[in-house]
Amino acid sequence: MTDLPVNSRDEGATAAAVALAPGAVGHVLVLGGGYTGNRFAAALTRLGIATTVSHRQPSDPGPPAESAGPSQLRFDPAHGALPSPEELVGITHVLVTIPPDAAGRDPVLDHLGEQLKELPLQWLGYLSTTGVYGDTGGAWVDETSPTRPTLERSRSRLACERAWRSRGLPLQVFRLPAIYGPDRSPFNDLRQGRARLIHKRGQVFCRIHVDDIVGALLHNLALPAAARPDTLILADEYPCSSSESLGYAAHLLGCKLPALQPYKQIAATMSPMARSFWSENRRVSSALLRQGLGYHLLYPSFRDGYRAALCPSPDSPGAGGRAAR
Ligand SMILES: NC(=O)c1ccc[n+]([C@@H]2O[C@H](COP(=O)([O-])OP(=O)(O)OC[C@H]3O[C@@H](n4cnc5c(N)ncnc54)[C@H](OP(=O)(O)O)[C@@H]3O)[C@@H](O)[C@H]2O)c1
Repeated sequence: MTDLPVNSRDEGATAAAVALAPGAVGHVLVLGGGYTGNRFAAALTRLGIATTVSHRQPSDPGPPAESAGPSQLRFDPAHGALPSPEELVGITHVLVTIPPDAAGRDPVLDHLGEQLKELPLQWLGYLSTTGVYGDTGGAWVDETSPTRPTLERSRSRLACERAWRSRGLPLQVFRLPAIYGPDRSPFNDLRQGRARLIHKRGQVFCRIHVDDIVGALLHNLALPAAARPDTLILADEYPCSSSESLGYAAHLLGCKLPALQPYKQIAATMSPMARSFWSENRRVSSALLRQGLGYHLLYPSFRDGYRAALCPSPDSPGAGGRAAR
């Protein structure tokens, strides 16, 4: 592994790490091989870093790949599938992408917490949510803002964050707004006529492109341990209404927008989960990531990200990686 250049979009999030020194990262365990976990694991593998990803169900290995991908581990505590201590030998870094379970408990802490404490861990990244800040009526929040979760799932999340913090591990909590990227964007809904153009006065949403999560994680790994904030918001610079982002997506596709629906008139027809997203309004600031730590967003706004998601370049970070959900 060689030192990497400062980030350039052409080389994708893999290159977003500012000079990860050779050997700086030993063996990474990614708990939860979902959308973000797989993308991070693929980037690590491209850097030549030994990586293992957990899945609840073992996947079909498929035809032999041109280059070896991350190794797989089964972690499905609900069905008693836990890794043996031997399978965790040599792990130095862990990223937890697994959310709290239906009971609001952290499956990793509950079932792997003791084993993780025995490992010579240098870093444990935990992906959380900006939902822990609750509703600010559209005002900005940053890492110093009080946490006032209003939704049950955000209260569980905050409790899990606190449980992780109490373990004495080299923890970094990353708080994320809505994650988007290839295969997670409004394009399919627009193409299939399922998109809804909803307007609620003053309401904005915040976002982060999956490759900026990957890039920011790598950037943090490249920092000296003492320079890594214990809590860090990963978000782009452009909170906006959902009608603005949907409008731009329709423009890129060259398709017509559906009729505008005032939120008040349709709220009752929405699922409780969909309604919950509209029940909070806040702007989350990533100034610490960008100005404090010097990370350059690959996709500073959804406009950059949507364009890239629609026409990914062959060099884009996900190309050749395991398909995202
Ligand atoms: N999506 C968003 O917009 C968003 C916004 C803010 C924060 N977050 C949080 O950020 C993290 C990453 O998000 P993501 O969208 O990349 O997640 P994702 O695609 O849903 O992946 C989550 C992974 O966790 C695994 N998992 C879930 N519950 C589990 C359990 N009880 N036991 C074992 N494994 C379990 C899943 O396994 P399977 O593959 O078997 O399902 C999957 O591999 C999550 O914690 C998420 O809640 C997401």
